[in-house]
Amino acid sequence: MNKAKAVQFVFDNVHTRFYQPVIFLPGIIEIEGRWHEATKNLADTLFKNIKGKTVLDLGCNTGFFVHEAIRNGAIGTTGVDYDAVAINKAKQINNILEHDAIFIQENIERYQPREIFDVTLIMAIYPPLRVGSLLKKHSGYTSEYFVLECDLDTTDLEGFDIVDRFLSPRVADQREIIFVKSSL
Ligand SMILES: C[S@@+](CC[C@H](N)C(=O)[O-])C[C@H]1O[C@@H](n2cnc3c(N)ncnc32)[C@H](O)[C@@H]1O
Repeated sequence: MNKAKAVQFVFDNVHTRFYQPVIFLPGIIEIEGRWHEATKNLADTLFKNIKGKTVLDLGCNTGFFVHEAIRNGAIGTTGVDYDAVAINKAKQINNILEHDAIFIQENIERYQPREIFDVTLIMAIYPPLRVGSLLKKHSGYTSEYFVLECDLDTTDLEGFDIVDRFLSPRVADQREIIFVKSSL
């Protein structure tokens, strides 16, 4: 991690409102995101067993979950988002952290993976997508499981193998985290 560049990034973004936390040195060089502590705790929960796995994050924003996956031992990570500003910041953060994630600016409904990932994240995509059709498409490119964060009762997951679900710590009265087994 390049400390001088991290401090410069924090300084340059002092008036930027981040959706996700930006964490350079945990507890020391950080930028607050919305639901800051809850989002950090969520990453810790999601990535307990991520060591050695490859991860795709669809709708990655500034790449917080990609970077936390790497911090927890993931190898081979990609983030996709159509927001140019968010992807640009994700790449800057990647550079400062000296991580090797790939960030792609593209609509996730059109994005076509060129490799198979162990785990695919589809979290808090707004405006909400037809998650079912995304899951079907990515079932061919996800070998282990999906992690979804969805509004309660709005996700049609009929026919999918749900292995765990719990209220999201970020917006606990509105959303849940759902683990779906891949059929690959
Ligand atoms: C509320 S944020 C959630 C970010 C991240 N997944 C998380 O859980 O912290 C939603 C993100 O999804 C992105 N997004 C929404 N629809 C998209 C689409 N069709 N293609 C690519 N990105 C999309 C937005 O640009 C934004 O960065």
